[in-house]
Amino acid sequence: MRKKIVAGNWKMNNDLAQTDLLLTELMQRMPSTDAEVMVAPTFVNLRYAYELTRKSNIEVMAQNMHFADSGAFTGEISAEMLKTVGVNTVILGHSERRSIFGEDDALLTKKVDTALAKGMKAMFCFGEELADRKAGSYFSVVETQLSNVLFHLKEKDWQQVILAYEPVWAIGTGETATPEQAQEMHAFIRKTIAEKYNETIAGNVSILYGGSVKPANAKEIFAQPDVDGGLVGGASLKADDFAAIIAAI
Ligand code: 13P
Repeated sequence: MRKKIVAGNWKMNNDLAQTDLLLTELMQRMPSTDAEVMVAPTFVNLRYAYELTRKSNIEVMAQNMHFADSGAFTGEISAEMLKTVGVNTVILGHSERRSIFGEDDALLTKKVDTALAKGMKAMFCFGEELADRKAGSYFSVVETQLSNVLFHLKEKDWQQVILAYEPVWAIGTGETATPEQAQEMHAFIRKTIAEKYNETIAGNVSILYGGSVKPANAKEIFAQPDVDGGLVGGASLKADDFAAIIAAI
């Protein structure tokens, strides 16, 4: 049975003191939940965040990583480095990594393969841009993103994969996909995986929705049968808002 997950992607926000404050407040306000709760602080604060939350139900994850074990890759962080500071899940393929830092499907394939080979979970992000939505090509865009990066995986690998559908037009814009739009795409994603693999794998993978999730819209979005939780940006930076979103699952 697939898991419910609420994850906060802090992006390039929160210095050490702010990381301490936000996590302390979040632990105080944490609603009782069966869902997995995850947060992704910046690399420099991962160790601190891990130590602070280790007795709580919050899992600390990373926002990115390099595919190589080590070497001449100035500014990069490896899977082993993340694991040694207590991080076992990594966001890969976020639209900001794709559009601002030029990450393409070939690179993301290497990153996903490395994360899985190292025993980590990969939270793989994908989603169409506004032009794709307007042109009506959003299903094929998403299918291509999935097949290019994930459809070489073996069946057992899928236990380490979390999917996050994030339509680019809904990220940081205040414009949310309607619950119906989210459900339609999530059902399509599950059907696509069932056709490539089988119903069990499709039924067991958690598919999160991301894009302007807020306390006011979380309940309706999470109520959709194929939406297993959310990947939250802006609203994860306020303890009250993130706690309210967790309570909505
Ligand atoms: P917002 O919730 O700020 O729209 O960001 C979504 C996102 O990019 C999460 O990864």
